[in-house]
Amino acid sequence: MLTIQQIFELGLKMAVTADPRGERGVKKYLARAKDEYDNMKPEDKKFFDSENLKNPYSDSRVHLGDLKKPVKRVLAGIDIGSAEILLASQLGERGKPIDLVIAHHPIGKSLADLHGVMDMAVEVYENFGVPVHVAEKLMEERIKEVGRGVHPSNHFQIIDIARLLKVDLMNTHTFADNLVSKFVSDFIIKQKPETIGDLIKTLTKIPEYAEGRHRGAGPKIFAGSPKHRVGKFMMEMTGGTNPSNEVYQELSRAGVSTVVGMHMKDEATKKANEFHMNVVIAGHISSDSLGMNLFLDELEKRGVEVITCGGLIRVNRRKKRK
Ligand SMILES: [Fe+2]
Ligand SMILES: [Fe+2]
Repeated sequence: MLTIQQIFELGLKMAVTADPRGERGVKKYLARAKDEYDNMKPEDKKFFDSENLKNPYSDSRVHLGDLKKPVKRVLAGIDIGSAEILLASQLGERGKPIDLVIAHHPIGKSLADLHGVMDMAVEVYENFGVPVHVAEKLMEERIKEVGRGVHPSNHFQIIDIARLLKVDLMNTHTFADNLVSKFVSDFIIKQKPETIGDLIKTLTKIPEYAEGRHRGAGPKIFAGSPKHRVGKFMMEMTGGTNPSNEVYQELSRAGVSTVVGMHMKDEATKKANEFHMNVVIAGHISSDSLGMNLFLDELEKRGVEVITCGGLIRVNRRKKRK
């Protein structure tokens, strides 16, 4: 049986393996965090989150629970709010005790630190041929903007409810987003869709996206046309949240023709369109579900029972293979 710590470490390991920077990139990132800590003034050191020295994903963490506690049953969801925490507690009263709730979207400190994962995009853009100084400057501004955006939230409201109801809680945001990004990218490379229309068909072969379509939010062309060629594509499914709108001009110049994302705001879509790019939006909750499913499958393989809520479209690839 897995403990809370083992569940967290499994998620972390999977995320690093699928990280768009590669394992070496992640190691470098952690080494920089260590340097930063070593050079801090003592009065700042006491506020440093020691978690940042071993976990490069500041938007994923264990919020509540004894790390050594064995976990028989988890309740997993895309969005875990107060209602889902109450649900976990109620399930316990009805004979289905929940040992751990796993949220996808950041809550608590993970939400306050969401922007901490965003600089992974710099390396992604650099690998696509965007000059590193341009990638850095664009992301720097955007990271500050997201940091200001999450700052006023009541980050610990949900954590407080969980604490009072004794519900143990973690969230896996970039953990799962790295998994979906790699899975979908590999799938597209394998299927070789020629046109944007083919790309939509390719995505819809993935059960989470087919279900997304049934639910009214299937893969959709936000910019471009079904007849356009896919060309060189870039995944925009991990790295915290949407990047700077200004990046599409640079990506287009660097030779990227198509962006495949989870969601995109109109302002960003307009920019991508202005610079002649295709934008295919696979779907938000379906993409997040896919990322979570890849992680949850591994928990099930190790004997953990998984119950889902909070919008998660559960597809079990482990059972399907049998
Ligand atoms: Fe996500
Ligand atoms: Fe999301």
